[in-house]
Amino acid sequence: MATLIIVGAQWGDEAKGKLVDVLGSQAQYVVRYSGGNNAGHTVIVGQETFKFHLLPAGILHPEVTAVLGGGMVVCPKSLLEELDRTRAARSELGRLAISPAAHVVFPYHRLLDQLEEEARGDDKIGTTSRGIGPAYTDKVQRTGIRMGEFVDPTVFPRRLEAVVQVKNRLLELFGGSPLSAKDLHDEYAAYAARLAPFVTDTDALLQDAIVAGERVMFEGAQGTFLDLDHGTYPYVTSSHPTAGGACLGTGVGPRAIDAAIGVCKAYTTRVGSGPFPTELHDETGETIRRQGHEYGTTTGRPRRCGWLDLHALRYSARVNSLSGLALTRLDVLSGLPRLKVATGYRLDGAELRGLPVLARDWERVEPVYDEVEGWEGDIRSAKALSDLPAAAQRYVRLVEEAAGTPIVVLSIGPDREETIVLRPDAFWG
Ligand code: IMP
Repeated sequence: MATLIIVGAQWGDEAKGKLVDVLGSQAQYVVRYSGGNNAGHTVIVGQETFKFHLLPAGILHPEVTAVLGGGMVVCPKSLLEELDRTRAARSELGRLAISPAAHVVFPYHRLLDQLEEEARGDDKIGTTSRGIGPAYTDKVQRTGIRMGEFVDPTVFPRRLEAVVQVKNRLLELFGGSPLSAKDLHDEYAAYAARLAPFVTDTDALLQDAIVAGERVMFEGAQGTFLDLDHGTYPYVTSSHPTAGGACLGTGVGPRAIDAAIGVCKAYTTRVGSGPFPTELHDETGETIRRQGHEYGTTTGRPRRCGWLDLHALRYSARVNSLSGLALTRLDVLSGLPRLKVATGYRLDGAELRGLPVLARDWERVEPVYDEVEGWEGDIRSAKALSDLPAAAQRYVRLVEEAAGTPIVVLSIGPDREETIVLRPDAFWG
């Protein structure tokens, strides 16, 4: 096995960073395939904490090539800031390769994101205000500026001039101020010059690497239920975080993918608006938020917290065709005397076979809960499943059975050491 997708199995923030860092260090290529700097991956190495938004966490390893795939939308300013920050902390980094097909996020995208949210009134999506939706809108509308054009000084000024004219009319329509194409060009042409050396044919790079049997890890951002097609639309992001997005966003075909590992918290969180059937509005929700430090990496917003949703997880396992599950943050549940898990949904009195499609049905479903015994004490020093309290072991088995997917890794704390690998052969064979 040489190709592996790591995908968020819930609404994002599943604590993918640690797994991605550990597995990425064993790969030759670590690839982001969708989204932009709306993502936030925290990686803790010893005393150092790294927060990544655009760069694949694999960049920390000098022997790794970190790839930004064509399915991404890239804010050049943020990327350069992140690169500079990471370089200041680490003298030796991996190589960076950016697809010429990735779309560029400009300030008008960010402004429109904010103005469009304001205009939505009570129906806000709760976006990260990073311009992600408007950048993908341009892509779908076939007016976006791609990395390959951005770094070509014979093309970029002309393309920008034309686009800014239209964007200024839109900005004014929403009550915003127009932008100066010249100022924008001057600032962004400097970023383009710095990024140009990294722009290269990443499709060919990855296709050749796969033929040569090199290890390629696809680093998912966000999560399954934020997927534009498979999530709780319209309360979703504008890209494809699901495993299928790894193919679309990199030029690698589906039969070249060997494994897909879903990352799932032992409970559920969501940031932003939108349906969340197992959300807790009580003291237990507060306890989970406090114990899990559940605040957004990108926006600092408090995350909404709730019980683990096994019904949704089963769908996630299927839509991503998961070969394994990484269950994270089990330690956060320690001390809760009783735990609930949703095993099904009822809508209008009938049990649902799958998931609702429309947001208004998502909002109306009633989860069917099973209640199980919790456990006491600090579990972070456990080295094997059998070191965990019996109730925690039962919880792990319950998740595995309900998802119909083996749990291959357990994360019981933020440090790299606080990880129990149950199936070492699940990753690279
Ligand atoms: P956008 O991606 O900024 O357009 O935001 C759309 C929705 O996706 C909002 O509910 C965000 O909170 C959510 N979202 C975007 N990126 C992430 C992420 O990395 N983790 C969790 N939620 C996210």
